[in-house]
Amino acid sequence: MKVKLGGEIKNYPAVWLKDDVVKFIDQRALPHEFTIFEARSYQDVAEAINTMIVRGAPAIGVAAAYGMALAARQPDASLESASEVLFATRPTAYDLDFALNYMKDACGTESVSAEKAAEAARSYADKIIERCKKIGENGEGLIKDGMNILTHCNAGALATVEYGTALAPMRLAAGKGKKFFVYVDETRPRLQGAKLTAWELNNEDIPCAVIADNAAGYYMKNKDIDIVITGADRIAALGDAANKIGTYEKAVLAKENGIPFYIAAPVSTFDADIQKGEDIPIENRDPEEVLELDGRKITPEGVDAKNPAFDVTPAKYIEGFITEIGILKPDQLKDTIFSKKISF
Ligand code: MRU
Repeated sequence: MKVKLGGEIKNYPAVWLKDDVVKFIDQRALPHEFTIFEARSYQDVAEAINTMIVRGAPAIGVAAAYGMALAARQPDASLESASEVLFATRPTAYDLDFALNYMKDACGTESVSAEKAAEAARSYADKIIERCKKIGENGEGLIKDGMNILTHCNAGALATVEYGTALAPMRLAAGKGKKFFVYVDETRPRLQGAKLTAWELNNEDIPCAVIADNAAGYYMKNKDIDIVITGADRIAALGDAANKIGTYEKAVLAKENGIPFYIAAPVSTFDADIQKGEDIPIENRDPEEVLELDGRKITPEGVDAKNPAFDVTPAKYIEGFITEIGILKPDQLKDTIFSKKISF
Protein backbone atom coordinates (compact mmCIF):
# COMPACT_ATOMS: atom_id res chain seq x y z
CA MET A 1 0.00 0.00 0.00
CA LYS A 2 1.02 3.59 -0.55
CA VAL A 3 2.43 5.21 2.57
CA LYS A 4 3.22 8.93 2.73
CA LEU A 5 6.26 9.32 4.94
CA GLY A 6 7.84 12.74 5.45
CA GLY A 7 7.00 13.98 1.95
CA GLU A 8 8.01 10.68 0.32
CA ILE A 9 5.71 7.95 -0.97
CA LYS A 10 6.78 4.42 -0.10
CA ASN A 11 5.14 1.02 -0.56
CA TYR A 12 4.54 -1.38 2.30
CA PRO A 13 2.46 -4.51 2.87
CA ALA A 14 0.69 -4.66 6.27
CA VAL A 15 2.72 -7.75 7.21
CA TRP A 16 5.61 -9.60 5.61
CA LEU A 17 8.24 -12.26 6.28
CA LYS A 18 11.87 -11.25 5.98
CA ASP A 19 14.37 -14.04 6.65
CA ASP A 20 13.26 -15.35 10.03
CA VAL A 21 11.38 -12.26 11.20
CA VAL A 22 7.71 -11.38 10.64
CA LYS A 23 7.33 -7.62 10.27
CA PHE A 24 4.14 -5.68 10.88
CA ILE A 25 3.14 -2.08 10.41
CA ASP A 26 2.18 -1.39 14.03
CA GLN A 27 -1.49 -0.43 13.61
CA ARG A 28 -1.75 0.74 17.23
CA ALA A 29 0.57 3.66 16.50
CA LEU A 30 -1.15 4.94 13.33
CA PRO A 31 -1.86 7.54 12.11
CA HIS A 32 0.61 9.58 14.18
CA GLU A 33 3.58 7.24 14.13
CA PHE A 34 4.74 4.77 11.51
CA THR A 35 6.62 1.98 13.25
CA ILE A 36 7.41 -1.63 12.45
CA PHE A 37 6.90 -4.41 15.01
CA GLU A 38 9.18 -7.43 14.63
CA ALA A 39 8.06 -10.91 15.63
CA ARG A 40 10.78 -13.53 16.05
CA SER A 41 8.65 -16.42 17.30
CA TYR A 42 5.11 -17.68 16.84
CA GLN A 43 4.44 -16.43 20.38
CA ASP A 44 5.39 -12.89 19.26
CA VAL A 45 2.99 -13.25 16.33
CA ALA A 46 0.23 -14.36 18.71
CA GLU A 47 0.96 -11.27 20.81
CA ALA A 48 0.75 -9.06 17.70
CA ILE A 49 -2.70 -10.48 16.90
CA ASN A 50 -3.87 -10.33 20.53
CA THR A 51 -2.83 -6.73 21.02
CA MET A 52 -4.10 -5.59 17.61
CA ILE A 53 -0.70 -4.62 16.22
CA VAL A 54 -2.24 -6.47 13.26
CA ARG A 55 -6.01 -6.69 12.86
CA GLY A 56 -8.60 -7.35 10.16
CA ALA A 57 -9.59 -10.89 9.26
CA PRO A 58 -7.43 -11.65 6.18
CA ALA A 59 -4.35 -9.96 7.71
CA ILE A 60 -4.82 -11.97 10.91
CA GLY A 61 -4.87 -15.12 8.73
CA VAL A 62 -1.66 -14.15 6.94
CA ALA A 63 0.01 -13.25 10.25
CA ALA A 64 -0.94 -16.68 11.62
CA ALA A 65 0.49 -18.39 8.51
CA TYR A 66 3.77 -16.53 9.04
CA GLY A 67 3.61 -17.47 12.74
CA MET A 68 3.49 -21.12 11.70
CA ALA A 69 6.52 -20.52 9.47
CA LEU A 70 8.41 -19.16 12.49
CA ALA A 71 7.29 -22.13 14.57
CA ALA A 72 8.91 -24.46 12.01
CA ARG A 73 12.26 -22.79 12.86
CA GLN A 74 11.82 -22.91 16.62
CA PRO A 75 13.53 -26.00 18.10
CA ASP A 76 11.10 -26.12 21.05
CA ALA A 77 7.91 -25.72 18.96
CA SER A 78 5.59 -27.93 16.95
CA LEU A 79 3.14 -26.76 14.28
CA GLU A 80 0.34 -28.30 16.30
CA SER A 81 1.12 -26.36 19.49
CA ALA A 82 1.79 -23.14 17.54
CA SER A 83 -1.53 -23.58 15.76
CA GLU A 84 -3.34 -23.93 19.11
CA VAL A 85 -1.75 -20.76 20.51
CA LEU A 86 -2.43 -18.75 17.34
CA PHE A 87 -6.00 -20.07 17.07
CA ALA A 88 -6.74 -18.91 20.64
CA THR A 89 -5.88 -15.26 19.89
CA ARG A 90 -9.16 -13.96 18.43
CA PRO A 91 -12.36 -15.96 17.96
CA THR A 92 -14.41 -14.20 15.28
CA ALA A 93 -12.17 -13.89 12.20
CA TYR A 94 -12.65 -17.11 10.20
CA ASP A 95 -9.55 -16.36 8.13
CA LEU A 96 -7.52 -17.38 11.18
CA ASP A 97 -8.89 -20.96 11.14
CA PHE A 98 -8.65 -21.01 7.35
CA ALA A 99 -4.98 -19.96 7.29
CA LEU A 100 -3.96 -22.39 10.05
CA ASN A 101 -5.67 -25.27 8.22
CA TYR A 102 -4.00 -24.18 4.98
CA MET A 103 -0.59 -24.30 6.69
CA LYS A 104 -1.26 -27.68 8.31
CA ASP A 105 -2.38 -29.11 4.95
CA ALA A 106 0.64 -27.64 3.15
CA CYS A 107 3.21 -28.66 5.76
CA GLY A 108 1.79 -31.98 6.96
CA THR A 109 1.74 -33.18 10.55
CA GLU A 110 5.29 -34.55 10.60
CA SER A 111 8.26 -32.23 11.11
CA VAL A 112 8.56 -29.78 8.25
CA SER A 113 11.58 -27.83 7.04
CA ALA A 114 11.68 -24.13 7.86
CA GLU A 115 12.05 -23.40 4.13
CA LYS A 116 8.94 -25.36 3.18
CA ALA A 117 6.86 -23.70 5.91
CA ALA A 118 8.08 -20.23 4.90
CA GLU A 119 7.28 -20.97 1.25
CA ALA A 120 3.76 -22.12 2.19
CA ALA A 121 3.14 -19.00 4.30
CA ARG A 122 4.41 -16.71 1.55
CA SER A 123 2.23 -18.48 -0.95
CA TYR A 124 -0.80 -18.03 1.35
CA ALA A 125 -0.06 -14.29 1.63
CA ASP A 126 0.36 -13.99 -2.16
CA LYS A 127 -2.97 -15.71 -2.73
CA ILE A 128 -4.77 -13.38 -0.31
CA ILE A 129 -3.22 -10.36 -2.07
CA GLU A 130 -4.28 -11.69 -5.50
CA ARG A 131 -7.80 -12.43 -4.26
CA CYS A 132 -8.18 -8.95 -2.77
CA LYS A 133 -7.06 -7.45 -6.07
CA LYS A 134 -9.72 -9.51 -7.81
CA ILE A 135 -12.32 -8.29 -5.29
CA GLY A 136 -11.30 -4.79 -6.36
CA GLU A 137 -11.70 -5.65 -10.04
CA ASN A 138 -15.08 -7.30 -9.47
CA GLY A 139 -16.38 -4.48 -7.28
CA GLU A 140 -15.09 -1.32 -8.92
CA GLY A 141 -17.99 -1.30 -11.41
CA LEU A 142 -20.36 -0.63 -8.51
CA ILE A 143 -18.65 2.71 -7.98
CA LYS A 144 -19.82 5.41 -10.36
CA ASP A 145 -18.51 8.92 -10.83
CA GLY A 146 -19.93 11.31 -8.24
CA MET A 147 -20.96 8.60 -5.77
CA ASN A 148 -20.80 8.89 -2.00
CA ILE A 149 -19.78 5.66 -0.28
CA LEU A 150 -20.10 4.76 3.40
CA THR A 151 -17.68 2.29 4.99
CA HIS A 152 -17.35 1.00 8.54
CA CYS A 153 -14.20 -0.07 10.40
CA ASN A 154 -11.05 -0.70 8.36
CA ALA A 155 -11.26 -3.17 5.52
CA GLY A 156 -8.27 -1.78 3.68
CA ALA A 157 -4.75 -2.99 2.94
CA LEU A 158 -3.87 -2.87 6.64
CA ALA A 159 -6.58 -5.46 7.24
CA THR A 160 -5.62 -7.73 4.34
CA VAL A 161 -1.88 -7.16 3.51
CA GLU A 162 -2.61 -5.27 0.25
CA TYR A 163 -5.63 -3.67 -1.54
CA GLY A 164 -8.20 -4.45 1.16
CA THR A 165 -11.65 -5.93 0.76
CA ALA A 166 -14.11 -3.02 1.04
CA LEU A 167 -11.34 -0.59 0.03
CA ALA A 168 -10.14 -2.66 -2.94
CA PRO A 169 -12.99 -1.56 -5.28
CA MET A 170 -12.33 2.04 -4.16
CA ARG A 171 -8.59 1.75 -4.88
CA LEU A 172 -9.25 0.30 -8.32
CA ALA A 173 -12.01 2.81 -9.14
CA ALA A 174 -9.71 5.68 -8.14
CA GLY A 175 -6.99 4.14 -10.30
CA LYS A 176 -9.37 4.36 -13.26
CA GLY A 177 -9.86 8.07 -12.58
CA LYS A 178 -13.35 7.81 -11.06
CA LYS A 179 -14.25 10.63 -8.69
CA PHE A 180 -16.15 9.66 -5.57
CA PHE A 181 -16.29 10.49 -1.88
CA VAL A 182 -16.04 8.20 1.15
CA TYR A 183 -17.80 8.69 4.49
CA VAL A 184 -15.73 6.84 7.09
CA ASP A 185 -17.40 5.78 10.34
CA GLU A 186 -15.00 6.51 13.17
CA THR A 187 -15.61 2.98 14.61
CA ARG A 188 -15.59 3.26 18.38
CA PRO A 189 -14.03 1.98 20.53
CA ARG A 190 -10.76 1.23 18.66
CA LEU A 191 -11.32 3.92 16.00
CA GLN A 192 -10.24 1.77 13.05
CA GLY A 193 -12.16 4.09 10.71
CA ALA A 194 -10.81 7.38 12.04
CA LYS A 195 -7.25 6.14 12.49
CA LEU A 196 -6.70 3.52 9.78
CA THR A 197 -9.24 3.85 6.96
CA ALA A 198 -8.85 7.63 6.85
CA TRP A 199 -5.05 7.16 6.82
CA GLU A 200 -5.21 4.71 3.90
CA LEU A 201 -7.65 6.84 1.86
CA ASN A 202 -5.57 9.94 2.53
CA ASN A 203 -2.42 8.15 1.36
CA GLU A 204 -4.28 7.27 -1.87
CA ASP A 205 -5.62 10.85 -2.28
CA ILE A 206 -9.20 9.55 -2.20
CA PRO A 207 -11.44 12.30 -0.76
CA CYS A 208 -13.08 11.27 2.51
CA ALA A 209 -14.52 12.54 5.77
CA VAL A 210 -14.65 10.79 9.12
CA ILE A 211 -18.10 10.87 10.72
CA ALA A 212 -19.15 9.95 14.24
CA ASP A 213 -20.57 6.44 14.36
CA ASN A 214 -24.03 7.78 15.11
CA ALA A 215 -24.06 10.17 12.13
CA ALA A 216 -24.55 7.66 9.30
CA GLY A 217 -28.36 7.64 9.60
CA TYR A 218 -28.42 11.41 9.21
CA TYR A 219 -26.47 11.21 5.96
CA MET A 220 -28.46 8.27 4.65
CA LYS A 221 -31.79 10.00 5.29
CA ASN A 222 -30.48 13.15 3.58
CA LYS A 223 -29.71 11.06 0.46
CA ASP A 224 -25.99 11.76 0.85
CA ILE A 225 -24.97 8.10 0.70
CA ASP A 226 -25.36 6.01 -2.48
CA ILE A 227 -23.80 2.72 -1.42
CA VAL A 228 -22.42 1.06 1.71
CA ILE A 229 -19.42 -1.28 1.44
CA THR A 230 -17.87 -3.02 4.46
CA GLY A 231 -15.67 -6.04 5.04
CA ALA A 232 -16.52 -9.10 7.14
CA ASP A 233 -14.86 -11.31 9.72
CA ARG A 234 -16.93 -14.46 9.21
CA ILE A 235 -19.80 -15.24 6.86
CA ALA A 236 -22.17 -18.11 7.65
CA ALA A 237 -23.54 -20.49 5.01
CA LEU A 238 -26.91 -18.70 4.86
CA GLY A 239 -25.17 -15.36 4.24
CA ASP A 240 -25.36 -13.78 7.71
CA ALA A 241 -22.14 -11.83 8.16
CA ALA A 242 -20.18 -10.83 11.26
CA ASN A 243 -18.27 -7.59 11.03
CA LYS A 244 -17.14 -4.80 13.36
CA ILE A 245 -19.69 -3.76 15.96
CA GLY A 246 -22.03 -1.18 14.45
CA THR A 247 -22.18 -2.78 11.00
CA TYR A 248 -25.63 -4.29 11.64
CA GLU A 249 -27.26 -0.96 12.39
CA LYS A 250 -25.74 0.57 9.25
CA ALA A 251 -27.20 -2.29 7.19
CA VAL A 252 -30.68 -1.83 8.70
CA LEU A 253 -30.50 1.92 8.09
CA ALA A 254 -29.34 1.31 4.53
CA LYS A 255 -32.33 -0.98 3.84
CA GLU A 256 -34.74 1.54 5.39
CA ASN A 257 -33.32 4.25 3.12
CA GLY A 258 -33.15 2.16 -0.06
CA ILE A 259 -29.32 2.15 -0.17
CA PRO A 260 -27.54 -1.02 -1.35
CA PHE A 261 -25.39 -2.60 1.36
CA TYR A 262 -22.46 -4.75 0.13
CA ILE A 263 -19.95 -6.89 1.95
CA ALA A 264 -16.55 -7.47 0.36
CA ALA A 265 -14.65 -10.59 1.42
CA PRO A 266 -12.44 -13.36 0.05
CA VAL A 267 -13.53 -17.01 0.24
CA SER A 268 -11.26 -17.45 3.29
CA THR A 269 -13.87 -15.49 5.30
CA PHE A 270 -16.79 -17.83 4.37
CA ASP A 271 -17.35 -20.55 6.97
CA ALA A 272 -19.17 -23.58 5.54
CA ASP A 273 -19.43 -25.17 8.98
CA ILE A 274 -21.65 -22.45 10.43
CA GLN A 275 -25.15 -22.15 9.04
CA LYS A 276 -26.59 -19.11 10.79
CA GLY A 277 -25.29 -15.84 12.16
CA GLU A 278 -26.38 -16.76 15.72
CA ASP A 279 -23.69 -19.46 15.76
CA ILE A 280 -20.80 -17.15 14.87
CA PRO A 281 -18.52 -16.69 17.92
CA ILE A 282 -18.45 -13.04 18.95
CA GLU A 283 -15.40 -11.64 20.72
CA ASN A 284 -16.04 -9.61 23.86
CA ARG A 285 -13.11 -7.32 24.53
CA ASP A 286 -11.84 -5.47 27.59
CA PRO A 287 -14.43 -2.89 28.78
CA GLU A 288 -11.53 -0.47 29.32
CA GLU A 289 -11.55 0.12 25.53
CA VAL A 290 -14.97 1.75 25.91
CA LEU A 291 -14.22 3.51 29.19
CA GLU A 292 -11.20 5.24 27.65
CA LEU A 293 -10.51 7.29 24.56
CA ASP A 294 -6.90 7.15 23.42
CA GLY A 295 -5.79 6.01 26.84
CA ARG A 296 -7.71 8.72 28.77
CA LYS A 297 -10.66 7.81 30.98
CA ILE A 298 -13.89 9.40 29.72
CA THR A 299 -16.42 7.96 32.18
CA PRO A 300 -17.05 8.53 35.90
CA GLU A 301 -15.05 6.33 38.30
CA GLY A 302 -16.84 3.08 39.09
CA VAL A 303 -18.93 2.98 35.90
CA ASP A 304 -18.74 -0.28 33.95
CA ALA A 305 -18.88 -0.83 30.16
CA LYS A 306 -19.70 -3.63 27.73
CA ASN A 307 -17.58 -4.23 24.66
CA PRO A 308 -18.73 -6.73 22.03
CA ALA A 309 -16.26 -6.35 19.15
CA PHE A 310 -18.53 -7.63 16.36
CA ASP A 311 -22.17 -7.93 15.40
CA VAL A 312 -23.97 -10.01 12.80
CA THR A 313 -25.85 -8.56 9.85
CA PRO A 314 -28.59 -10.94 8.68
CA ALA A 315 -28.42 -11.92 5.01
CA LYS A 316 -31.72 -10.14 4.24
CA TYR A 317 -29.97 -6.76 4.60
CA ILE A 318 -27.10 -7.66 2.26
CA GLU A 319 -27.49 -6.73 -1.41
CA GLY A 320 -24.44 -8.73 -2.41
CA PHE A 321 -21.04 -10.14 -1.51
CA ILE A 322 -18.14 -8.76 -3.53
CA THR A 323 -15.78 -11.73 -3.77
CA GLU A 324 -12.88 -12.80 -5.93
CA ILE A 325 -15.23 -15.06 -7.91
CA GLY A 326 -17.78 -12.32 -8.58
CA ILE A 327 -20.58 -10.41 -6.89
CA LEU A 328 -22.96 -12.90 -5.30
CA LYS A 329 -26.42 -12.51 -3.79
CA PRO A 330 -26.83 -14.22 -0.40
CA ASP A 331 -28.99 -16.93 -1.99
CA GLN A 332 -26.26 -17.66 -4.55
CA LEU A 333 -23.65 -18.58 -1.92
CA LYS A 334 -24.90 -22.15 -1.55
CA ASP A 335 -24.29 -23.00 -5.22
CA THR A 336 -21.04 -21.05 -5.57
CA ILE A 337 -18.66 -20.51 -2.67
CA PHE A 338 -20.22 -23.21 -0.49
CA SER A 339 -20.85 -25.74 -3.25
CA LYS A 340 -17.35 -27.15 -3.57
CA LYS A 341 -14.18 -27.44 -1.59
CA ILE A 342 -12.36 -24.15 -1.87
CA SER A 343 -8.98 -24.72 -3.41
CA PHE A 344 -6.52 -22.05 -2.58
O1 MRU B 1 -11.28 -5.94 15.48
P1 MRU B 1 -10.70 -5.81 14.10
O2 MRU B 1 -10.09 -4.48 13.84
O3 MRU B 1 -9.80 -6.97 13.75
O4 MRU B 1 -11.98 -5.93 13.17
C1 MRU B 1 -11.81 -5.79 11.79
C2 MRU B 1 -13.07 -5.73 11.05
O5 MRU B 1 -14.16 -5.87 11.58
C3 MRU B 1 -12.94 -5.58 9.59
O6 MRU B 1 -13.97 -4.79 9.07
C4 MRU B 1 -13.01 -6.98 8.98
O7 MRU B 1 -11.98 -7.77 9.50
C5 MRU B 1 -12.92 -6.98 7.54
S1 MRU B 1 -11.26 -6.72 7.13
C6 MRU B 1 -10.93 -6.93 5.57
